[in-house]
Amino acid sequence: MSKLELKNICKSFGNTDIIKDVSFPINDGEFIVFVGPSGCGKSTLLRLISGLEDVTSGEIIMEDRVVNDVPPVKRDVAMVFQSYALYPHMNTYENMAFGLRNLKVSEEEIKQRVTEAAEILQIQHLLESKPKDMSGGQRQRVAIGRTIVREPKMFLFDEPLSNLDAALRVQMRIEMTRLHKQLKTTMIYVTHDQVEAMTLADRIVVLNAGKVEQIGPPLELYDNPCNSFVAGFIGSPSMNFIGGKVLDASAKKITMQIQGTNTTIEIKLHKECTGKVNPGDVIKLGVRPENVTLKQEHKDSIKIDGKLIAFEELGNTSYGYVSVTSDCVVTCSVHNNGAGFNKSTENASLYFQANSCYIFNQQGVNILCKK
Ligand SMILES: Nc1ncnc2c1ncn2[C@@H]1O[C@H](COP(=O)(O)OP(=O)(O)O)[C@@H](O)[C@H]1O
Ligand SMILES: [Mg+2]
Repeated sequence: MSKLELKNICKSFGNTDIIKDVSFPINDGEFIVFVGPSGCGKSTLLRLISGLEDVTSGEIIMEDRVVNDVPPVKRDVAMVFQSYALYPHMNTYENMAFGLRNLKVSEEEIKQRVTEAAEILQIQHLLESKPKDMSGGQRQRVAIGRTIVREPKMFLFDEPLSNLDAALRVQMRIEMTRLHKQLKTTMIYVTHDQVEAMTLADRIVVLNAGKVEQIGPPLELYDNPCNSFVAGFIGSPSMNFIGGKVLDASAKKITMQIQGTNTTIEIKLHKECTGKVNPGDVIKLGVRPENVTLKQEHKDSIKIDGKLIAFEELGNTSYGYVSVTSDCVVTCSVHNNGAGFNKSTENASLYFQANSCYIFNQQGVNILCKK
């Protein structure tokens, strides 16, 4: 039995279609992350699941029951927002107990649940503190605690860490994973941060302009993105795209002329093509920065000449930026501070292997994608 199923969900505000025919199941106990650029409809989809918004069409099914007309409180889901409003005059205990008192839970039971939640979140020492005396991270924990005590069937999180500073976000991210392991409750988590998505999710739902682009475990999306949107969104720094025209194509290799240059490269196909390209087609070659080097490491590497426009040294990793044409700069991520590479060079060459290349057709479809 799936915990939740979305069937052909559409949502419009006035004449504007925001969610466009979204369907997928979520399994019991899964940690699902909705990721996508700002404005793509992540919060709207979460609000539809919670019942705070009504669907325009389609069905929301929870534990085999259509809940379209069930009000939010009866859906037994708990939501944590980016801006969590704790009651300023109440201490942590009171903030966590408040919702339960409204539900007429006994004081004894309330005490037990609040104590347990405080233990899980490691905020036992803050039970007497008021929000103004706590840090952002501590307040966010209380906001999460307030939902844990309700023992919901499902947690919905809408960018809960976005207001925290970078170091705290990393810490809270690890806490979220721990929380999920401990509670084993189904969680849906919205973020625009692909690192958060990669590290938290059992499965990621990539949204773009109200549509699902791809759903899958993080590494599957990284290894096997179905199109250039997912390829560019998952992975950091983003995948490089080099535009070009197909000169020759067979089942074994594609010969491509890089746009705006006379450079021709041959890409041996390491996987069976699931889509077809023909001579004359405009395509994009995709290659991740971590698969590009600035010196030749393999005999059979593909080589592209360009100009080094910047070299950033971050300590563990360095980023080289090489312009191939006036509108194509390739990022290359190298270790050991680029040892063996002359950083003051102007002319530089990029090297990568055919088996780390992705090929996207004119519609942006990855023609080497398995599915
Ligand atoms: N209540 C509303 N009325 C009109 N438009 C809305 C409403 N809520 C959201 N939208 C629009 O829907 C789109 C998606 O918003 P949202 O779901 O908040 O995106 P995200 O969370 O991915 O950033 C945006 O263009 C937003 O302006
Ligand atoms: Mg949002």
